[in-house]
Formats: sequence, structure tokens, C-alpha cells
Amino acid sequence: MLKLLFIGDIVGRPGRDIVAARVQKLRNELSLDFVIANGENAAAGAGITGAIAKSILECGVDALTLGDHVWDQRGWETEITQIERVCRPANLPESNPGWDHLVIESRGFRVAIFTVLGRQFMGLKADCPFLCADRMITRLKGQADAIIVEIHAEATSEKQALGWHLDGRVTAVLGTHTHVPTADAAILPKGTAFICDVGMTGPYKGVLGRQIEPVVAKFMDGMPRRFEVATEDVRLSAALIEIDPSMAHAAKIELLTVRA
Ligand SMILES: [Fe+2]
Ligand SMILES: [Fe+2]
Repeated sequence: MLKLLFIGDIVGRPGRDIVAARVQKLRNELSLDFVIANGENAAAGAGITGAIAKSILECGVDALTLGDHVWDQRGWETEITQIERVCRPANLPESNPGWDHLVIESRGFRVAIFTVLGRQFMGLKADCPFLCADRMITRLKGQADAIIVEIHAEATSEKQALGWHLDGRVTAVLGTHTHVPTADAAILPKGTAFICDVGMTGPYKGVLGRQIEPVVAKFMDGMPRRFEVATEDVRLSAALIEIDPSMAHAAKIELLTVRA
């Protein structure tokens, strides 16, 4: 069996710190073959920079994915092209810079990863995630032994629908973006591991990783405010997947929570 850890959205310094403190240890303790992480909130909660991406990749993370916050940091649109192990969502317009997928290898087994953005309640100009995933799977034939699809979306319905659409054709469909882990990890009938949201890696005493007071106040009066990253109850949240290399199907999926 091969083991893959998919770490949910790393939020700010607290998220980066727990990744730095724990990922290499988890690799050893759990005999992980692959570690993938979403870094869309790594820089002060919004986007990522070249220096931060490199620092996360040095902590035992093999591949970094992104989401709707992909272009939040100025200069990242040029930096992304210089870092090999980072990819941007695949269903963004083709003119967007950066790789639309990554292939990582361990023990002679190749895992491809790509992210699709959902379109329900999301702001970016993204193509249909279903058709994009279909196209990517065709493109990746022969390039990888297993495919992991990240669905970065707001609506649980859209995530579940993509899980069923891809069941049996990819090893896992893993949800991110809502920052709240869900209790529905399962292997679908044709062998695809699925979870609506793997949760975020950052401070849970907050609102999606931000400090509580300004978010509550904005909901009440609508006035703009700075949402600083919170600091307390830091957790690493991830999906741990066992892959049967003979079939490239998922044998097991569970939610893993590591507290700081
Ligand atoms: Fe996020
Ligand atoms: Fe997001």
C-alpha cells in the first residue's frame, strides 16, 4: 500500500508553523509516500509568495496546490513559473501562468494532482470543473499511475456531484476551500476516495482562520475591516489515503487532525 497525505488550506503563519513542526515527523511515523498541501492562504491568509512556497516545500511537502486566492499576492504571477512543485487551478483561463497539474513519484509509482475550482458561489472565471476534470484525466493517461483531484469549492453539492462523476476514474476527489472538515470520508463504489472538505491547517478558534471580532462585526454592520489571521487552537487537518498500487484505487481514507 502507498500512503498519501493531503493537507488542507494552510492559513498564515500559524498554519505554516504547524506544517514546519509536524509534517516531516508525520512522514516518518506514518511512512508517508506522498504529501500534498493546499497553500492558497499561506501568506497572511490570502495567497502565497515564492519565499513561502519554497519554505513549505522544504518541510516535507512534495506538491503545493492553490485555490481561488491564487493571485492574491503581487508578484506571484511571475514567481509561480519559477517553482516546479506548485500548480494553480486547472480550470482557470489558459492564459493564466503556472502549471495546471503536477506529477510526483515515490517507489516508482507516479501520482498526478490537479485542482478544479467550483463555480457555485465562487468569484473566479473558471471553466466547468466537470469537463475540465474529464479533459485532464484524458491528458494524464500514461503520465501517471494514479490521479488525485482537488475540488476547491463552496457548495457541498458540487463537490459530491464531482465525486460521483469521477468515481472509478481517479484515486481520490478531495474537497477544500470551506476550511471546515466534514465527517463524510468514504470510498465510493468504484474505488474513489472522497471527502467534501479536508478542513484547513491553521487556527480553529476563529472564523475560517480569521479573528472572530472583525468578522462578527462585518456581518452585523457591513463595514469593511481587516481580517487578521487568528492565533489559537492551531490544527493540521488532512486526508490520509491508502492507495492499492495494483489497481490505483483507494483502499482507505480517513480524516487526520493534528493539534499544535
Ligand atoms: Fe482556503
Ligand atoms: Fe479558497
